[in-house]
Amino acid sequence: MPNAWFETVAEAQRRARKRLPKSVYSALLAGSEAGVSYDDNTAAFRELGFAPHVAGLSDTRDLSTSVLGQDISMPVLISPTGVQAVHPDGEVAVARAAAARGTAMGLSSFASKPLSDVLEANPQTFFQSYWMGDRDTMSRRLQEAREAGAKGLIATLDWSFSNGRDWGSPTIPEKLDFKAMRQNALSVMARPRWAYQFARARTIPDLTTPNLTPPGGKAPTFFGAYYEWMQTPLATWDDIAWMRKEWDGPFMLKGICRIDDARRAVDAGVTAISVSNHGGNNLDSTPAPIRCLPAISGAVGDQVEILLDGGIRRGSDVVKAVALGARAVMIGRAYLWGLAANGQAGVENVLDILRGGIDSALLGLGKSSIRELTPEDVIVQPGFARTLGG
Ligand SMILES: Cc1cc2nc3c(=O)[nH]c(=O)nc-3n(C[C@H](O)[C@H](O)[C@H](O)COP(=O)(O)O)c2cc1C
Repeated sequence: MPNAWFETVAEAQRRARKRLPKSVYSALLAGSEAGVSYDDNTAAFRELGFAPHVAGLSDTRDLSTSVLGQDISMPVLISPTGVQAVHPDGEVAVARAAAARGTAMGLSSFASKPLSDVLEANPQTFFQSYWMGDRDTMSRRLQEAREAGAKGLIATLDWSFSNGRDWGSPTIPEKLDFKAMRQNALSVMARPRWAYQFARARTIPDLTTPNLTPPGGKAPTFFGAYYEWMQTPLATWDDIAWMRKEWDGPFMLKGICRIDDARRAVDAGVTAISVSNHGGNNLDSTPAPIRCLPAISGAVGDQVEILLDGGIRRGSDVVKAVALGARAVMIGRAYLWGLAANGQAGVENVLDILRGGIDSALLGLGKSSIRELTPEDVIVQPGFARTLGG
């Protein structure tokens, strides 16, 4: 039996690729069109440097912080991902791993597991919602999430329904029943360990969205939910202010990359924003969020909590983001690959890799706490940053 532990997120990705059917793996990879944003999200972190000390370093390093009122053990949270069929325990396994490592989780409204199960596994869970359905429907869903015990709301706006990928989009069936499994038999049988996990759990991959179930009705399929979202008139800033009031608790707006939008988010009364391009899955050629962060931090950093998501693969990436103005980061693919590679233990493995990397970077930089990081700790080449909407 090969060692299930992996030493880097890159290795988790390689194992996910080997383990998952092609369509599931490419649904995780996502990325729009030519993948320009997807590539830039990780490439931009490589352009940033450090200048380490060698003596007078701190024996202890404090990684803890708080986000949306939740105390967490390190500045890394689980970003919401509406991805199904990666593992039978799905988001519940991710929630358990996050709880075991002392951090919070965002649960996508497109998730395959009910919010109540995820909250039981990790009470530090935020519910994520797109702008979808009419106001009464949204109001009811927010009420349900609040009553279930969600600790905050993440509203995601950055989605322009762009489609088409130069490397091809995966075919995802409307419903993953045995007929669809038979039709996809070749790709499923090429990945026996993935199929075996579901067989052992006596289940088939669930392609429904239980958190969007109408009163007395059935959970819509992933595509049914997607259709409702596509049919909804697009949100205005007044809508966002309405949603923010309707939630009446910690509220994050995810998907900001411009200063003018960050200011409007502040005006709408949000608690936090996440500087994000949806992991490169939205409008291709949007710059990496780490390039947009310094200007946004300069503009609204004293008024809201600023998070960043997109391209985080190492602890040093987290340190670079925090030094340039983020309070914490959220991760997407990194934990999905960990989940695919080794279930809950794989997600814990990814969180441990990031924690170790943050600690090493702080050690080298001579810091005793992530709160001591400043932009001077990072080497930023001229032309790196992008000031959008300033
Ligand atoms: C497969 C996939 C599905 C996603 N689904 C959602 C979602 O349902 N809601 C949401 O707010 N963001 C979603 N995202 C975006 C992530 O929350 C996050 O912004 C992104 O993954 C960060 O980039 P990274 O994967 O490089 O860490 C998804 C991302 C991926 C890769």
